[in-house]
Amino acid sequence: MFFQDTRIENKTFFSYFCDSNITIYKLLYNITAMFETLTYQKRRQALRERMSNGLILILGNNEAPANYPDNTYKFRQDSSFLYFFGHSHPGYAGVIDIDNNEEYFFGNDVDMDDIIWMGPQPSIKELAERVGVSKSFPFDKLKDVIGKALSQRRKVHFLPPYRYDNMMLLEDLTGIKASMVKTHASVELIKAVVSLRAVKEQCEIDEIDKACNIGYEMHTTAMRLCKPGVSEQYIAGILEGIAASHGSMTSFATILTQNGQTLHNHDHSHILQEGRLMLTDAGAENINNYCSDHTRTVPVGGKFTQRQKDIYNIVYSCHQKALELAKPGITYKSVHLDVCKVLAQGLKDLGLMKGNIDEAVAAGAHALFMPHGLGHMMGLDVHDMEDLGQIYVGYDDEVRPSDQFGLASLRMGRRLQPGFVMTDEPGCYFIPALIDKWRAEGMHTDFLNYDVIEKYKDFGGIRLEDDILITPEGSRFTGEKRIPIKVEDVEEIMKD
Ligand code: GLY
Ligand code: MN
Repeated sequence: MFFQDTRIENKTFFSYFCDSNITIYKLLYNITAMFETLTYQKRRQALRERMSNGLILILGNNEAPANYPDNTYKFRQDSSFLYFFGHSHPGYAGVIDIDNNEEYFFGNDVDMDDIIWMGPQPSIKELAERVGVSKSFPFDKLKDVIGKALSQRRKVHFLPPYRYDNMMLLEDLTGIKASMVKTHASVELIKAVVSLRAVKEQCEIDEIDKACNIGYEMHTTAMRLCKPGVSEQYIAGILEGIAASHGSMTSFATILTQNGQTLHNHDHSHILQEGRLMLTDAGAENINNYCSDHTRTVPVGGKFTQRQKDIYNIVYSCHQKALELAKPGITYKSVHLDVCKVLAQGLKDLGLMKGNIDEAVAAGAHALFMPHGLGHMMGLDVHDMEDLGQIYVGYDDEVRPSDQFGLASLRMGRRLQPGFVMTDEPGCYFIPALIDKWRAEGMHTDFLNYDVIEKYKDFGGIRLEDDILITPEGSRFTGEKRIPIKVEDVEEIMKD
């Protein structure tokens, strides 16, 4: 019925999908663009081949109410659902039956009331066919399918839920208490999904490049607006507007602050002051949900002081070191540690550190200045697949996480492979509370010159971040143009 009523020039929704005239489809039916049908079929096939047996359940996300049920946050689909089943709408689930080589798409067709409020929508059958799934059912049927599999003592693999409604749904489907359901997630499935999503396909790299182009616009705009008397909130708001104007949103809550010594500072309440540094860590999620994540730190007013330049150039050297080292076969943990040595050497040259650099880094003394890791994977999530567990994404049997302060915050340590997309984000921060604590505790006094460090307590922090694709030969930046980063290039663009 719905199908008949909504024909355009005798074409079905599906034929519009298949036509080159997808623009008309999108205009009328508000469906976000996606990859070719075959892309999703191949991904699910590859997933099946990596798994032993049972059923794979991939839940999509639902609307999340902000202050009352109908006033929702901007919808964001689950990234693994996007990867395997493509559609960015609430209320869907996908099942892959490994043993019987079947795939199912679950969701509810809209009724007339929905059409009146939301406009015409494609049927679930059409949506399923668009991503190469021939069997589709109303959402309620999911419970029968999962219940039947469980009653036959078949394994039902699901990913760790991070939204509470899906925890409750999983309780409903499996009988496992919502509060415990995460601990029953399938490690086999997690590992299989990570192995696929970690290596980006060309169509994904193209999307990441596009997201980085939006990032370029955001960051160069922030540089131009960074003047004394301008509020952090104003610039942060403009950046969010730029991301939104390209059809989606920022890839995470923008960090924009003259107090960059706080690593994830989401407070934008200050008015920029001459002499401070503005740290902007911000990214875009493009219309197809791929992310960018860049950080630049620039002098308010456009001219670095000598002291700022000294620290800035150390961080810049760290960044260049990472780019020089990042290539297939090398562990990101070793890149992180080599970068930390560049940081420690630079700080030793300035008199803030002392002693043997290798020993200082092995002891973790440099972490006073850089208490975070060099970077993380990026893709459909800005911290790609973090919901699946960092231990499975950034580490493996060979490279294990550390519990040493600083190194423990490295999200990605394992060997790089062509197709990985990584962030490279060294920093140097002067965190007064941490300096006071370490000094009081006599921490690393062989390597730290506390009397000199004391003078930098009003400095703030510097972080520089780019996104790189690991190529067979080494690495390349993602996006068309690199956001200005050298001192002279930053000062030049800030003259505008
Ligand atoms: N850009 C924010 C982060 O990587 O945590
Ligand atoms: Mn980052």
